[in-house]
Amino acid sequence: MGQLDGKIAWVTGAGSGIGEAAALALAGEGAVLVLTGRRKEPLEEVAAKIKAAGGKAHVHPCDLTVAAEVDAAAEQIAQRLGRIDILVSNAGANIVDRHWNRITAEGIDTLIHFNLSSAMYVARAVMGIMRAQGGGLMIHTASMAGRNTGGFSGPGYQAAKHGVVAMSHSINQEECVNGIRSTALLPGEVNTPILKQRPNPLSAEELARMLQPEDTGEVIRWIACQPKHVCINEMWVTPAWNRSYVAALQRKL
Ligand SMILES: NC(=O)c1ccc[n+]([C@@H]2O[C@H](COP(=O)([O-])OP(=O)(O)OC[C@H]3O[C@@H](n4cnc5c(N)ncnc54)[C@H](OP(=O)(O)O)[C@@H]3O)[C@@H](O)[C@H]2O)c1
Repeated sequence: MGQLDGKIAWVTGAGSGIGEAAALALAGEGAVLVLTGRRKEPLEEVAAKIKAAGGKAHVHPCDLTVAAEVDAAAEQIAQRLGRIDILVSNAGANIVDRHWNRITAEGIDTLIHFNLSSAMYVARAVMGIMRAQGGGLMIHTASMAGRNTGGFSGPGYQAAKHGVVAMSHSINQEECVNGIRSTALLPGEVNTPILKQRPNPLSAEELARMLQPEDTGEVIRWIACQPKHVCINEMWVTPAWNRSYVAALQRKL
């Protein structure tokens, strides 16, 4: 018996990286998964893995930067499965030309829309459903860049992720009376496809030292298994070999 037996969990960005690992971990705990991303094929592959392990998964592709698509997706999930107990709002993106010396207005729009606007669309779409059913849990994948500035991730991404952290706290401030809990998850570097957007390619050794997607999947599973009276407001999880700290130490030396 799983701790999440029968719970409905919607994971965005579920076709790869942290979202895939979260979906597999939640399914392993008995949750019924709804998997969202823009591309259908990776979602189908994750659904097949869940089903092969005896779990249940549905695929619902959608572009989360389009508010009407997000609203429609949330409504369809609630109609089809009856409720949404857990939201893992995890989709996000970065761009190669991310620093002030190269960033374009289009790049700024991409960073804000793909990381912040879309997360707010998803939270808003799920909010009414969670209120009506008497509560629910949201886990927002922000980033260590949602607390720190400087370093690898770039100013637009950092600004958007600071927004995601603020948004998650505001949900607890306004919705705790409705049984809604929200966690801002702040990972450091995780070895996932998003790192292919780095201006400087990473070595296999550097990737191996980072958090692996399964590490964050396990953290998300743990948060989702907390009892209803416990709210994990914010969680910051990094590799022990934290490259931004290491870089600062090396500059000092
Ligand atoms: N890896 C890290 O070091 C790290 C650290 C801190 C935080 N994060 C955050 O973790 C989250 C997951 O990223 P990841 O590292 O697992 O990278 P990833 O494998 O690239 O995952 C990002 C996912 O988001 C989906 N996505 C992007 N834009 C979308 C949109 N408009 N609509 C729907 N889905 C969309 C992508 O699927 P499609 O392309 O099919 O849409 C993809 O599956 C992101 O929010 C990222 O910012 C990552």
